[in-house]
Amino acid sequence: MNRNKKQTCLNFGQAKAVAKTYFVLNTNFYMSNQLEKVKELIQLREKARLGGGEKRIEAQHLKGKYTARERLAMLLDEGSFEEFDMFVEHRCHNFGMEKTKFLGDGVVTGYGTIYGRLVYVFAQDFTVSGGSLSEMHAQKICKVMDQALKMGAPVIGINDSGGARIQEGINALGGYAEIFQRNILASGVIPQISGIFGPCAGGAVYSPALTDFIIMTQGTSYMFLTGPKVVKTVTGEDVTQEQLGGATVHSSKSGVSQFQVQTEEDGLKLIRQLLSFIPQNNMEEAPLQPNDDPIDRLDDALNDIIPDSPNKPYDMYEVIGAIIDKGEFLEVHADYAKNIIVGFARFNGQSVGIVANQPKFIAGVLDINASRKAARFVRFCDAFNIPIVSLVDVPGFLPGTGQEYGGVITHGAKLLYAYGEATVPKITVTLRKSYGGAHIVMSCKQLRGDINYAWPTAEIAVMGADGAVEVLYSKEIAAEKDPEKMTAVKEEKKKEYNDLFTNPYVAARYGYIDDVIEPRNTRFRVIRALHQLQTKKLQNPPKKHDNLPL
Ligand code: HXC
Repeated sequence: MNRNKKQTCLNFGQAKAVAKTYFVLNTNFYMSNQLEKVKELIQLREKARLGGGEKRIEAQHLKGKYTARERLAMLLDEGSFEEFDMFVEHRCHNFGMEKTKFLGDGVVTGYGTIYGRLVYVFAQDFTVSGGSLSEMHAQKICKVMDQALKMGAPVIGINDSGGARIQEGINALGGYAEIFQRNILASGVIPQISGIFGPCAGGAVYSPALTDFIIMTQGTSYMFLTGPKVVKTVTGEDVTQEQLGGATVHSSKSGVSQFQVQTEEDGLKLIRQLLSFIPQNNMEEAPLQPNDDPIDRLDDALNDIIPDSPNKPYDMYEVIGAIIDKGEFLEVHADYAKNIIVGFARFNGQSVGIVANQPKFIAGVLDINASRKAARFVRFCDAFNIPIVSLVDVPGFLPGTGQEYGGVITHGAKLLYAYGEATVPKITVTLRKSYGGAHIVMSCKQLRGDINYAWPTAEIAVMGADGAVEVLYSKEIAAEKDPEKMTAVKEEKKKEYNDLFTNPYVAARYGYIDDVIEPRNTRFRVIRALHQLQTKKLQNPPKKHDNLPL
């Protein structure tokens, strides 16, 4: 094998010598003819690299946006980009389109590496017909998606497009459908990431929506099904593009986008960082990173972080920061449903998904948005073999007509379902409250939690003492006419209830909690648990697919 390699691989000096002989042996005619062709190739490449031309590139820059090629150069490891289909042109003859052709047809596609790992990419080129999607443009995207699926490597798409190429009609729509179909088949097999760095309107939004993560740039990107003009006509509402579908709207109100960034540079860096936590495909594990944060690092502050009053909040970010490697946390959906925190971190170099209730925001209660946000994240982690560490402090589900009419039953069931179906290692640490249905939903033992720890401050019960006493002792309380005595009765009953239920030891007695741990030692205990679970094998019954409560 090596010997063959030696025979066929020339070093640079040898190659030069061979070329010299070749020049001497061949006629001048052959040489000049070939050189002409090479020159033509170089010129064609230069032309293709200019996309829609210098004027349109300048216009793109004036909008504070980079071109497709500039974006890919920043996204990928230096010099790693290999382009496909640079010479593709559209084949539309409607509206005189045969006279308006650009090499590459408005999208730059190919592959490269990020931190040395193979990724497939496409970036829409707004300088060519506004990055609009033609039949051939779609074919180019489909080619990289097919290749990515065959190779088991992530696909990253940078969207900056006026949508379906109007002149191509149904062929453009068909092109979108081809892409959507591939998004669907690739879902859960290879990671798919969408950067929205410009317009993304109409049905075009559905390709990013089918991918795992959306990153939007503030002020320059928007996503909506129908633009402000149509909205005005149909509903009479006056809205700007930004108000209708800007980065802030989709990152904080609708939850469509998982990340919003100030600049394109930030967005491209974020994609690189995000990939570092994720495996290449669903058959692999996330890459292990070198770790120099001591695994047995104690954090004394955690022994004192839970306030004396059960109604006083504390900041769950402090707990997360204290226990993970070097406090490095990549939060997903940071601005949406802040009552639950989800994101990626590492324990001793191993990538995990963190799901944590946030007592600082509406007491960490579970509601529709929090359930949807966490369910999607748990399912992503499970699909891509990323263990889940849940930090629980949840007073229950948010009551009220707003939630019930909005279908909190179905949405809450999504999170329950996501945890219950997940087969990756699942470690749960209950810090304080874990009440009722929310206790079950947040990765309890019976939902196949592998390791369930609790801090000594944990309160695991059907409900809090206040509610329980009102239900259990309503007659006794009502019978007491003297307000002071009534309060005394309530307090006595609450103490009785707290002594009996609101602690971790009842659950520990039944084995629902594997151990009650010292808070400052949480990092070490989680790392040990993850180590123990490295060889976990668990399979759900065979089925065509599940019927998740959508
Ligand atoms: C063909 C398009 C185009 C499109 C833009 N262009 N969108 N060409 N099809 N969909 C062209 C313009 O003619 C122009 O060409 C160039 O791109 C730049 O566009 P401008 O309008 O000059 O740029 P700007 O002012 O920045 O406005 C960008 C824009 C606007 C907001 C995106 O172009 C726009 O509203 N486009 C139409 C958007 C739209 O309605 N798309 C269809 C959505 S429905 P020249 O030659 O002058 O440079 C859809 C259905 C998909 O996509 C369904 C999938 C299932």
